[in-house]
Amino acid sequence: MRRKKCRDLKNMTALTIQAEQLELVYLLEKEDLGETGKQLLEGLGRSPKTISPRYFYDAKGSALFEQICELPEYYPTRTEAEILKTVSPEIAEITGNTELIELGSGSSTKTRFLLDAYQQFGQLDYVPVDVSASIVEFAAEHLFQEYKNLSVTGLIGTYEQAIAHLPDPEDLPRMLVFLGSTLGNFSAAESDRFFKQTRQSLRSGDYFLLGVDRHKSTDILEAAYNDNQGVTAAFNLNMLSHLNERYGSNFDLNNFRHRAIYNVSERQIEMHLDCLQDHTVEFQDLNATVEFQAGESILTEISRKFELGKLRDNLAMQGLKTVKVWGDRQDWFSLILTQVI
Ligand code: TRP
Repeated sequence: MRRKKCRDLKNMTALTIQAEQLELVYLLEKEDLGETGKQLLEGLGRSPKTISPRYFYDAKGSALFEQICELPEYYPTRTEAEILKTVSPEIAEITGNTELIELGSGSSTKTRFLLDAYQQFGQLDYVPVDVSASIVEFAAEHLFQEYKNLSVTGLIGTYEQAIAHLPDPEDLPRMLVFLGSTLGNFSAAESDRFFKQTRQSLRSGDYFLLGVDRHKSTDILEAAYNDNQGVTAAFNLNMLSHLNERYGSNFDLNNFRHRAIYNVSERQIEMHLDCLQDHTVEFQDLNATVEFQAGESILTEISRKFELGKLRDNLAMQGLKTVKVWGDRQDWFSLILTQVI
């Protein structure tokens, strides 16, 4: 494999690796452990305490997340895949050939339904975006075996970095694909900012395809985030092991318990780690200690559940016009195709 340094942006390493049809562009900022550690301690200094969801995804966390997607209670992945399987040909018919850019592509499993439909146009241009280079390489290797005339340009970085550095698509329109209701993991303010940046990075006529989980009964929602086998609990608790590794802290996982509740008025699942007894956690590498009290909890993630009307209005306000919406029979999950006006 040939390595070529292509750009050196301030504070960033941009490096391109070229294989036959695979190009990886590294956009990740060099991690400054002092700075991220400071942010972590800020979150733990708040009331209620918070830890950023980015700490879910070490190697073990990513593997647990793959398991969550297979759980009987966790319907979103399955439901979204069903919808995509059914409607991808119609999406391709509406948009014609586009360059497909997928945020948070992971193993690109669901993307295959889109690639199947876009194959008819001859040349397939796929731009997966993920923070993990190895998962993009792994996915690309498999895709090359399944699809002819495929070119893959992987952007290794955060969504924000990727949106700011989209490759020049020459004459094809682009379709930005954001699946898995990951939008729900952003607060309302973060989501507005994300739409704004999306709008700015796309051109008039480009498409934005969004998969979102819908507001529904509390029982169904809470079961999805409190599975019987305890995989989601292990996923949530694993965050503390990850911190122990990264910052030399001494969290004892037995001192915490996973809890996920649906906050109906806010229309969001809230994932917590409840503290079971008073104790002190030491962060050796950060020279800091944090006190925990029995009964308090750490908020680790929100997962907002959407109402279509409001979401469409929000998108429209940002210049993203809804072209068509598809759902499953129970309307548990929706796929929204929007176009930049
Ligand atoms: N975005 C999806 C959701 O909110 C997947 C997800 C993100 C998730 N973090 C999670 C699922 C934590 C379960 C637990 O549903």
